[in-house]
Amino acid sequence: MTEVVSVDPQHPDPEIIARAAEILREGGLVAFPTETVYGLGADGLNPVALARLFEAKGRPATDPVILHIVDLEALPQLAREIPPAAWTLARRFWPGPLTLVLPKQPIVPDLATAGLPTVALRMPAHPVALALIRAAGVPIAAPSANRFGHTSPTTAQHVLEDLAGRIDLILDAGPTAIGVESTVVDLTRPVPTILRPGGLPREALEAILGPVAVFDRSVAGPAPAPGMLPKHYAPRAEMVVLIGSGGWLRLRLRELAIRYLQEGYRVGMLIAEEDQPAVADLPVEIAVLGSEGDLEGVARRLYPAMRDLDARGPDLILARDFGTRGLGLAIRDRLIRAAGGRVMKAEDSP
Ligand code: TXA
Ligand code: MG
Repeated sequence: MTEVVSVDPQHPDPEIIARAAEILREGGLVAFPTETVYGLGADGLNPVALARLFEAKGRPATDPVILHIVDLEALPQLAREIPPAAWTLARRFWPGPLTLVLPKQPIVPDLATAGLPTVALRMPAHPVALALIRAAGVPIAAPSANRFGHTSPTTAQHVLEDLAGRIDLILDAGPTAIGVESTVVDLTRPVPTILRPGGLPREALEAILGPVAVFDRSVAGPAPAPGMLPKHYAPRAEMVVLIGSGGWLRLRLRELAIRYLQEGYRVGMLIAEEDQPAVADLPVEIAVLGSEGDLEGVARRLYPAMRDLDARGPDLILARDFGTRGLGLAIRDRLIRAAGGRVMKAEDSP
């Protein structure tokens, strides 16, 4: 049985937190809110709890998890060879949507790091998450609280949809603020490298570090062929992402939708407010992510909109891209992964 308990997002009831922490210390699984998405927590130093975590998510043991911490003292306890840049980033951006990859200390179980010599660490900016980690007294391993490959959860209801009966407790503190996962930065390379763009924009990192590399499938060269990327963050429907901007993008969105309709697809569209007039007359299901200029709003609505649109039953979802500035990079990354790499450029012919 999975119990769902409401907690105040700002001032969580200490008794509820103490109970959740007790479950974690006993090797159980507790889903909790962070500022990015809901995480599925387990004692990050307990291999038995970690094994249950992978099992509950259906996650392959080859995919390492992030350890969540509550104070800077935990950094040298879990990581070693910590470069000055790591301390600078930690002081500047923690708690917040930034995950640092560093060489691991032997205390970190191999299951947490999938056998890698490095560990991913993050201090989340959510009072419930911080209270829970503090009460548990151990680093908390927490992948997003979804079945492996599914869309990440931004509400407790999403967690329940994916993991009911598979975990012990869900702490419900309402929808999450950022809506996409943390930015993962590898500091073990000669140049700091973003492994996964996320809630902390690249520009914020570069303001402190200077140029950073982006290990990003969507901007690291030509669009890959369909099916080349592992599907992740994925809806049930097939998905295609249209990259481009302005009038061209809108024109091609409309053309593509009409083409898919003619081919007999039930079409869903993930669009910006500004695109609405261009497709308003078409018999398609529409989810509006927000204005092109409001990337925070788009990021926050992205996963719930994908879930809602998917539930309305289209066989094909056509999504538009929001560029690479600020949170645009993370939004593009998630759209392309949800589409399993099916990308079209607005300039290309179909
Ligand atoms: O915002 C977030 O980061 C959320 C919340 C719950 O904190 N967590 C999250 O965890 O997104 P997960 O497991 O869904 O994604 C963790 C990412 C994966 O892409 C994983 O490959 C990467 O971090 N990662 C973890 N350890 C790593 C390591 N040692 N080296 C490289 N990448 C690592
Ligand atoms: Mg995930």
